[in-house]
Amino acid sequence: MAKKTIAVVGATGAQGGGLVRAILEDPAREFAARALTRNPASDKGTALAAQGAEVVAADVDDEESLRRAFAGAHGSFCVTFFWDHFSPEKEQAQARAMAQAAKDAGLKHAIWSTLEDTRLLVPLSDSRMPTLMGKYKVPHFDAKGESDRFFADLGVPTTFLLTSFYWDNLVHFGMGPKKGPDGKLAFTLPMGDKKLPGIAAEDIGRCAYGIFKRGPELIGKRVGIAGEHLTGAQMAAELTRALGQPVAYNAVPPEVFRGFGFPGAEDLGNMFQYKADFETDFCGARDLGFSRSLNPKLQTFAQWLGANKDKIPLG
Ligand SMILES: NC(=O)c1ccc[n+]([C@@H]2O[C@H](COP(=O)([O-])OP(=O)(O)OC[C@H]3O[C@@H](n4cnc5c(N)ncnc54)[C@H](OP(=O)(O)O)[C@@H]3O)[C@@H](O)[C@H]2O)c1
Repeated sequence: MAKKTIAVVGATGAQGGGLVRAILEDPAREFAARALTRNPASDKGTALAAQGAEVVAADVDDEESLRRAFAGAHGSFCVTFFWDHFSPEKEQAQARAMAQAAKDAGLKHAIWSTLEDTRLLVPLSDSRMPTLMGKYKVPHFDAKGESDRFFADLGVPTTFLLTSFYWDNLVHFGMGPKKGPDGKLAFTLPMGDKKLPGIAAEDIGRCAYGIFKRGPELIGKRVGIAGEHLTGAQMAAELTRALGQPVAYNAVPPEVFRGFGFPGAEDLGNMFQYKADFETDFCGARDLGFSRSLNPKLQTFAQWLGANKDKIPLG
């Protein structure tokens, strides 16, 4: 039987890369990986080709290139790149283009990597957190959530994938423990005693692969995934064990986090506050057992730390 091709946006990145590897590693060889990149000749592009992926050029800012890249495929994995440009409007235009290209290609199954539109629970009139960019509470969440309708309105057979905080942010996004003036390490999170659903970025792609393997069962569904739901104190305790030195939990209030001044600090401060204020809904939408049923290799935070602790910069 011919393999079913999955066109993977962001194939050289975290989410899409995990999916390409999951497709290529499956001994059942049920699917083929078509890796989309803006530059197939790059080191990452040629490495994916060497691993067995079909590597094609596409840019999410160019709908025609997406149409070409999706043509003849069974499915697509659609993801946007907010932190490359910080523009919710651009993110929505990219989601709309992917939905349209999926529709035009007649795909049987798209996965849209989305997040909650926080304004459904925190309307702009709610003063508990500031409104940002004029019409958002958590711009990088709201833009994704608002974009769900592009897939739904066009009738694209879509699974809406609610992802979680990557533990890899401790390596790549400045979220690792930092040394205080006393020389001791502290892990900062503005979530008090509330739980943060987290996941190894690699596991997002593996879960997405599990969704494709289920066939039509999860089309039209919202599927949330996480590896564990942990409080900041629990994460600090795991960091202490893994690093072999004490890591304190520094539970700053969200308004302090919003004031840290790095690009995106207000967006992330609001995001963590939302996750804390709606802990039950947010964790409830990301069932651990279901995530594991999609991806039996799903890692815990301790397992992820075991493999990645040496990469965490301890500033
Ligand atoms: N960090 C977190 O905790 C977290 C949690 C949940 C969701 N998210 C969301 O995850 C999204 C990012 O996904 P990711 O982490 O997988 O991204 P990533 O690792 O930063 O990957 C980005 C890849 O996307 C490609 N890319 C960038 N702009 C492109 C364009 N215009 N057209 C086509 N490809 C483009 C690049 O590939 P080429 O250079 O090869 O083209 C790059 O390798 C963000 O929207 C973020 O909000 C993040």
